[in-house]
Amino acid sequence: MSRTAFDFAPLLRPNLPPAAVRYSGFPAFNFVGGHNDAATTPVDGLIDAAASVLMREGATLATYGLNSGPLGYIGLRQFLAKKLHRQAGITCSTDEILITSGSNQGLDLINQVLVAPGDTILMEQASYGGAISRFTRHGANLVGVALDKEGLQPDALEAAISNLKANGVRPKYIYTIPTVQNPTGAIMGPQRRADILAIAANHAIPIVEDECYSDLLWTPERPKAMKAMTALGNVIFVGSFSKSIAPALRVGYVVADWSILSRMLACKTDAGTGALEQMVLAEFCEKHFDTHVGTLNKVLKRKLDVLVEALGEHFGTAAEFEVPKGGIFLWVKLPDCVDTQKLAQAALKAGIAFNPGPEWAIDKQWGRPRLRICFANPTETALRKGVATLAEVCHREMGVPARIGNVALS
Ligand SMILES: Cc1ncc(COP(=O)(O)O)c(C=O)c1O
Repeated sequence: MSRTAFDFAPLLRPNLPPAAVRYSGFPAFNFVGGHNDAATTPVDGLIDAAASVLMREGATLATYGLNSGPLGYIGLRQFLAKKLHRQAGITCSTDEILITSGSNQGLDLINQVLVAPGDTILMEQASYGGAISRFTRHGANLVGVALDKEGLQPDALEAAISNLKANGVRPKYIYTIPTVQNPTGAIMGPQRRADILAIAANHAIPIVEDECYSDLLWTPERPKAMKAMTALGNVIFVGSFSKSIAPALRVGYVVADWSILSRMLACKTDAGTGALEQMVLAEFCEKHFDTHVGTLNKVLKRKLDVLVEALGEHFGTAAEFEVPKGGIFLWVKLPDCVDTQKLAQAALKAGIAFNPGPEWAIDKQWGRPRLRICFANPTETALRKGVATLAEVCHREMGVPARIGNVALS
């Protein structure tokens, strides 16, 4: 039967996002997205975990929620309660943890519960592009707060709140990524966390603490979570298994007081996050989480070293950056004459994808000469070759770097 194209266009709801682009595979040098190192995916461990949990509890798949209730698989929540206590200092019960389909669903639920169109969210001036786009789509006004080597700056936060107050605006919440800030990689120290908590408490503003990178550290000290540092209950903690185990599993979590978690749960209408994924993760993580993350971090650190070396070799002093102590991305500043959005288009033709700064910044002009390079998924060879090719494209299109391969080009 031949198919005619039905015209849905006049029926579409107003204010939809632009249509999705059809998937045509990853580019050769894929420096975007939170993908992980493929070779470190713990495939054997996940196979064993799947077999043992299914043999023991497989019959519970017959019920929505695996006989664990709508918050998620109890084994996974028990693992998380212990892990969060041990590594982040958070004391919570399993009833204060909601398993979500990725931490992005957690962010969506928070917005569904707290944010009406026209509300204001305070966030780091450079932040996760997926947060910027979903907050904007939700109708929120975003106010960027200056960052430094330790992340969100308390003075700038206080000034932004006072400024909003003077205009009669009380922000709905502060969104922050304190441990391995996306994209700068900054890690907020304990004093800075305390200062920001004090400001938030003083103005009665909640904090959404997005800690999806806090396992990916190659510095010994993981500061306590902000959620662990206050008894006020104004911090909503968001976490994920995407970065520590695998993003395709789509398992994240939210930790919050029942008063707000119960409102989020009432908005979670998907009848439960994928059951097999939760069961397998719980079984695997209980035994192998720390060892796996230790191995992964060594691989990530090595890839970052390769990327830093390649940037030094091909861009020289034209590429400025702070080398992060964790995570999967590097935030690079190029000379002001470079427009990274234009560069991204030219680079894509050469098979290179990176995140242009404006997509990761509240002030698009500030973001213009900046870019984010994700290094976890490309091989070391792809990192080296991709950076060399990017330097060639950037030299051709923007005159930066001024020399290629130590030979001055006119
Ligand atoms: C800061 C931050 N939060 C949340 C997410 C969403 O992750 P997921 O939905 O895979 O848990 C990402 C993904 O890159 C991120 O960088």
